[in-house]
Amino acid sequence: MANQHIPLAEQLSQNLPSKVKIVEVGPRDGLQNEALINGKAISAADKVALIEQLADAGVSYIESGSFVSPKWVPQMATSTEVFETIKRNNNVTYAALTPNMKGYEAAVAVNADEVAIFASASESFSQKNINCSIEESIERFSPIIADAKKRNIKVRGYVSCVVGCPYEGDIDPEQVALVAEKLLAMGCYEISLGDTIGVGTAASVTKMLQAVSARVPSAQLAVHFHDTYGQALTNIYAALQFGISVIDSAIAGLGGCPYAKGASGNVATEDVVFLLNGLGITTNIDFDKLLQAGWFISKKLGKPPISKVSTAYLAQQQ
Ligand code: HMG
Ligand code: MG
Repeated sequence: MANQHIPLAEQLSQNLPSKVKIVEVGPRDGLQNEALINGKAISAADKVALIEQLADAGVSYIESGSFVSPKWVPQMATSTEVFETIKRNNNVTYAALTPNMKGYEAAVAVNADEVAIFASASESFSQKNINCSIEESIERFSPIIADAKKRNIKVRGYVSCVVGCPYEGDIDPEQVALVAEKLLAMGCYEISLGDTIGVGTAASVTKMLQAVSARVPSAQLAVHFHDTYGQALTNIYAALQFGISVIDSAIAGLGGCPYAKGASGNVATEDVVFLLNGLGITTNIDFDKLLQAGWFISKKLGKPPISKVSTAYLAQQQ
């Protein structure tokens, strides 16, 4: 019989964390892939309003933009304006994605609190996404990490295609582990494992996490699941059982990846918080305010939230 004095998370499994940090990637990963409306990107003012609403809801880490080529990703062209305009909350980390020194310098110029670099476990995806090999991408990150160290800016590392690649199919878990280990050794404080095209299942994600956690401690791992095949929540539950306590998600399930055809958005933050609340795992997020932030951005984009939880609550309001 369940012991009422032991938190539910502990009753279910010794390994489930008691607290989880949500890394909100909607303003970057989400919006980078939203279609232009009448040839226009979402305005910087709307991005700022979204970021401020997320911060007000208690989200403590927000990837707020990226400094990449505007020719490659037009929706991110206003990232400088966004960072310069946000009213910062001291409890929030405002991070930026940076592919090279040029992007990193732009992030430093607007006082991004942290930067994220991104490598791939798949050679073909690396070429399509950032126009260079895995090895070359890692070389490009070295000067970023060196300068960030001098300035006390933390660097987060992503590994993309950790289960499957749109060009190569299945990815060997050992290859993921090697890239993750390399990024950690270079100085990234945390490695976010990206199922870029959302093909992972509890079985393949578990195999991948077994390989990676043999080389990188779970305390330094995060998971970043796109929900293309509807498996993200199950995969998050599998990751929680490895003691992983950092989860990337996007408000309203925004997004996808411009270089991964058919990939849908990240798992919705509303769905992840609903799962965590059910497990008694603390996030310090105000759920009602989170829902409001999702409805705000969905209205601006003229489409419903890609979140079953958000849709269910919205229906109750009508
Ligand atoms: P390139 O063409 O190889 O770069 O692109 P280059 O160094 O040859 O420069 C070409 C032009 O780009 C030059 O301008 C540069 O100044 C400019 P021009 O002289 O032609 O006018 N340029 C830049 N402009 C702005 N910001 C910069 C920058 N760097 C060069 N930082 C590059 C290389 C990386 C720039 C390009 O491939 C690019 O921007 N790619 C976009 C990648 C991207 O944003 N992908 C989506 C994010 S990754 C992702 O979503 C996965 C993740 O979520 C995890 C997961 O889901 O698995 C993280
Ligand atoms: Mg992503």
